[in-house]
Amino acid sequence: MIVFPTLENIHRVSHALGQGELIGLPTETVYGLAADATQDEAVAHIFEKKKRPSFNPLIIHGHSQEAFQNQVLWNDKADLLAQAFWPGPLTLVLQRHPSSSLSLLASAGLSSLAVRVPNHPIALSILQAFDGLLAAPSANLSGKVSPTQTNHVEEDFPDLLIIEGGEASVGLESTIVDLTGPSPLLLRPGGVSREDIESIIGPLENPNASSIKAPGMMTSHYAPSLSLRLNVEEPLKGEAYLAFGPTPYEGPHVLNLSQQGDPREAAANLFKMLRLLDLSSFQGIAVAPIPSAGLGLALNDRLHRAAAPRAP
Ligand code: TXA
Ligand code: MG
Repeated sequence: MIVFPTLENIHRVSHALGQGELIGLPTETVYGLAADATQDEAVAHIFEKKKRPSFNPLIIHGHSQEAFQNQVLWNDKADLLAQAFWPGPLTLVLQRHPSSSLSLLASAGLSSLAVRVPNHPIALSILQAFDGLLAAPSANLSGKVSPTQTNHVEEDFPDLLIIEGGEASVGLESTIVDLTGPSPLLLRPGGVSREDIESIIGPLENPNASSIKAPGMMTSHYAPSLSLRLNVEEPLKGEAYLAFGPTPYEGPHVLNLSQQGDPREAAANLFKMLRLLDLSSFQGIAVAPIPSAGLGLALNDRLHRAAAPRAP
């Protein structure tokens, strides 16, 4: 359903977000499929709705740089870029603040976060009314082009509450700059030109070939330090067990992704439970079989990456 951004609707939408619902959010780049970035289940719903076969990290949207104060670690280059281009079509990848309240699923378990302040009056009003942070990928089904009008969003998501924000003025996704390493990297060209960014912080490097070849295997990706064994019905002695659905195992070494066997709940719990079980007192982590239907495909994709032999 497409609704106009009346004051009443903005309050309705911000209430719905607080309840864990998804909305179609206008931004200047493309429309986003937005959810409260602190609620794991709402974020899991985004992946489910987009039918993404893997958990890509999402961009977190806030109404101002201050909104990210306790979520990411700021540095000089990030400050300069935020001052120059926010609000606007630039996303900064920064280290996650140790006390960040954001869903680990939103960043696909990474220790970094992608953040941006969109330059769209309605997006900003919603972010202000909601007074929180929104995880939002482009509002299209996986594999389709990004939507620049409400009717594009409605085609893919007929049941979604979509806020009319007119035609996206930039019409191209935000530029993504990674500032977590020794030199800034241009991860994705977009609405702010490379030259404009380089005029502020100097040369941008391209991500190296190895990170493109196997994005899920990048050392920056969180993988538990313990080894993972998948499709395990009976964990060995000394192993931690990540269960899915009803299980006879219990105790401090067992966590259940979802008692009900619900893949959305499992996705919401995956990264935090992997971290909780990643203790040196265990010999490894055994993971129960997870059916590949719905979000199960993305769950299994991520688990296979985490279980793969590590690059030295
Ligand atoms: O213009 C945009 O950026 C739009 C609007 C809605 O804001 N959003 C968008 O989101 O394009 P999405 O999910 O389609 O693209 C997000 C990109 C992905 O390519 C992902 O790999 C990258 O951001 N990304 C997110 N978090 C990251 C992180 N921590 N490290 C590296 N890349 C990250
Ligand atoms: Mg996209």
